[in-house]
Amino acid sequence: MPHSSGQMSRVTRTKETAKVSYDRMSRWYDLLAGTSEWKFVKVGLDLLRADEGESILEIGYGTGKAILALANAVGDGGRVYGIDLSEGMHQIASERVKAAGLSDRVELRCGDGAKLPYEDHRFNAVFTSFTLELFDTLEIPIVLLECMRVLRHDGRLVVVSMAKKDVTGFAVRLYEWAHERIPNYVDCRPIFVSQSMSDAGFDIVECIEMKMWGLPVDAVRSRIRP
Ligand SMILES: C[S@@+](CC[C@H](N)C(=O)[O-])C[C@H]1O[C@@H](n2cnc3c(N)ncnc32)[C@H](O)[C@@H]1O
Repeated sequence: MPHSSGQMSRVTRTKETAKVSYDRMSRWYDLLAGTSEWKFVKVGLDLLRADEGESILEIGYGTGKAILALANAVGDGGRVYGIDLSEGMHQIASERVKAAGLSDRVELRCGDGAKLPYEDHRFNAVFTSFTLELFDTLEIPIVLLECMRVLRHDGRLVVVSMAKKDVTGFAVRLYEWAHERIPNYVDCRPIFVSQSMSDAGFDIVECIEMKMWGLPVDAVRSRIRP
């Protein structure tokens, strides 16, 4: 029987293993997960409300569907940046951006979301979906502090993530159980989304609570606490 605890599960696989896994999955990702997750990503994008002329960063852009939506929203005068661990994902997303004719306003690179290669206070907004929950518990605050560092003082952060709630239902217990045993296949795990953001110094502006196969998913809009 799966256990339940008030703590987030730990992440045991290395980033190198995660990278290899996403490289392998990249060609199939949209078929495997992209369709079911996209409607939740769209809720996050609606919360972000990207505007003309803005400069926006996405962490963990995957196959680049959100990058494309953001690039359309910021228009000619705006710019969209993305960072992702996987070279396979980088290739697919770059092809998608090129096919849409948006390469002039998009800059994608490979790298680790916990060490953002961007200068301070550069972005109007940071967006990340189904990626924060891939970082180990002790790294989540590091990623969020990196988001804060690269955001302008009036900037906003939107996170879409599987969410752990105070009362843990059977679907979450089962998922956590699978995550602990086959972390390469069940790699995301539910995290305390709003709490982690608040602990890192963000004020929660809006949280939309949803369910995906019985698992809670939160889309959270926040701003830097003044
Ligand atoms: C579950 S997929 C989500 C992709 C996309 N955001 C979406 O919602 O469809 C997670 C993505 O995060 C990337 N990723 C994993 N660990 C990362 C890290 N440490 N830094 C940056 N990206 C990472 C993976 O390569 C993958 O593209």
